[in-house]
Amino acid sequence: MRKLLLLTIVSALAITSCTFEKAVPLPAGCNTTMYYSTDIKPFIDAKCVTCHSNVPSYMNGGDFTDFSLLQEKVNDGSVVDRVFNKKDMAPIGYDQLTEAEKSMLRCWIEQGAPNN
Ligand code: HEC
Repeated sequence: MRKLLLLTIVSALAITSCTFEKAVPLPAGCNTTMYYSTDIKPFIDAKCVTCHSNVPSYMNGGDFTDFSLLQEKVNDGSVVDRVFNKKDMAPIGYDQLTEAEKSMLRCWIEQGAPNN
């Protein structure tokens, strides 16, 4: 009985820890260099800067027109968390990232999110 319980716990842990990898497989073609300026910035500007701008009037989750602030959110894991785990950015009702854009974002983050 205790063995069964242990097995259940271990498999539950294994399943939970794999959730992220399953939900977000590393896209094919990630060995191609992603460029912030030409691949990433256009859709960040179009779909995130709507709110993540330098408009100081309300809590906006950080100004993504400033590369260093975006990079900070990449480095502290919050971009991956909100876009790929919680999937609440962009919020429902606003322009969503396409699968292709998400792949590019994921690859770029994987490549160290350089300002290239
Ligand atoms: C409709 C406005 C809106 C849009 C569009 C939007 N966001 Fe947000 N975002 C917010 C607000 C407001 C917050 C702060 C409150 C919160 O954390 O939910 C936030 C928080 C975040 C955070 C967490 C920041 C932190 O300090 O923890 C990340 C990361 C993020 N957004 C990424 C994005 C990305 C990437 C996009 C584009 C795909 C995007 N958001 C589009 C409004 C928006």
